[in-house]
Amino acid sequence: MATITITKWIILSINILVIQTLTLTLTLTHAQQVPCFFIFGDSQTDNGNNNRLLTSAKANYRPYGIDFPGAIPTGRFTNGKNIPDFLAELLGFSNPIPTFAFRRGSDILRGLNYGSGAAGILDSSGIRQGPRFSMNEQVAIHGATTGQITAIFRNRTAADNYLRQCLYVVNIGSNDYINNYYYQKPRSLSSLIYTSDQFADQLIAQFSRQLRRLYDLGSRKVAVYGIGLIGCIPQEILLYPITNGSPCVDKINVAVGLFNARLVSLINNLNNNLPNAQFTYINATNIALGDPALIGVKVLNASCCEVQTSGPAAGQCLRDGAVCGNRKEYIFFDNFHPTEISNNVTALRSYRALLPADASPVDIERLVRQ
Ligand SMILES: *[C@@H]1O[C@H](CO)[C@@H](O)[C@H](O)[C@H]1NC(C)=O
Ligand SMILES: *[C@@H]1O[C@H](CO)[C@@H](O)[C@H](O)[C@H]1NC(C)=O
Ligand SMILES: *[C@@H]1O[C@H](CO)[C@@H](O)[C@H](O)[C@H]1NC(C)=O
Ligand SMILES: *[C@@H]1O[C@H](CO)[C@@H](O)[C@H](O)[C@H]1NC(C)=O
Repeated sequence: MATITITKWIILSINILVIQTLTLTLTLTHAQQVPCFFIFGDSQTDNGNNNRLLTSAKANYRPYGIDFPGAIPTGRFTNGKNIPDFLAELLGFSNPIPTFAFRRGSDILRGLNYGSGAAGILDSSGIRQGPRFSMNEQVAIHGATTGQITAIFRNRTAADNYLRQCLYVVNIGSNDYINNYYYQKPRSLSSLIYTSDQFADQLIAQFSRQLRRLYDLGSRKVAVYGIGLIGCIPQEILLYPITNGSPCVDKINVAVGLFNARLVSLINNLNNNLPNAQFTYINATNIALGDPALIGVKVLNASCCEVQTSGPAAGQCLRDGAVCGNRKEYIFFDNFHPTEISNNVTALRSYRALLPADASPVDIERLVRQ
């Protein structure tokens, strides 16, 4: 008898917990523009998922986080907030979206950040740095999350209705170039076998399967970032000769452009073929163009922090190394990653397009309203 009573009490208290959580979520939706926000990506979105992995692609040491509230390193690959942090603020969330790796109980109803440094669309990208959650793994983990959400609602229809109101942001692909196709020592097999056209085709074929899987898992409002001008990051300028007086490694930007053009077609294709799909393209290249001096940024080709010069983490900040004082004047914090001020601009313009080409067909603000 006693056992039965205890069991009933536990079940009852779980119910109360669930009801309280749902009420809390409903109250929050008044201020929040979406009930939940899920993030898939690489180091541009990682907020600590890699911290306990045996990888060199982590940023849980100083000077990373120097401008984050509390001045603490969290695993974000920048001096302050990253793009998902700013997006969460713009969407009315009172706190950043938690890491999936260190989530607590009911966190999953508000959304999770699956971002993982060095991760790519291809499972093999970023392998030199160590373990990471590739896009395939992030999508698989999200499959488990949706199962848990369905269990909380105890009603498939209600869970599906909930999941289709969430915002999903995907920002991945840079490592398929930086840490795969254009990796130098040793040169990647893919760069020896495939032309940049073929490589872009291969990435898009895989990405298409991943985005369709997200749709099958109930995602409808999905903002997908194109790859930015990675031929202009300090590490690539260091590794590759720059030609014709260009400030960037043009061949990398051209190769990435092939991917981006196909991604736009893929997104149109998904919207035309999947009922109620609302994918949108965020043009990271367009957002990066324009005069940085307008926001006071002066240094475009050098990192703010002192970087490691060799090893698998070359180009990331040196642990406890020197850091520039005028961090609002730099585009890049280390040799790969934008500073907080750059992240702020990227988030702002993807949320509310400044120029029509920033987002197509709609920016994130319209995506969550429509
Ligand atoms: C499941 O949720 C749907 C939508 O909220 C609702 O109409 C339906 O009555 C629910 N079914 C059960 C068995 O509670
Ligand atoms: C993205 O922006 C770049 C730079 O302005 C432009 O060349 C490209 O056509 C844009 N792509 C889309 C789909 O708008
Ligand atoms: C960075 O740009 C400045 C000004 O355009 C230039 O003088 C300097 O040589 C560049 N540095 C590198 C490492 O390319
Ligand atoms: C981000 O940009 C907005 C708009 O320019 C500004 O109000 C805000 O203070 C910035 N946030 C940070 C942390 O720099």
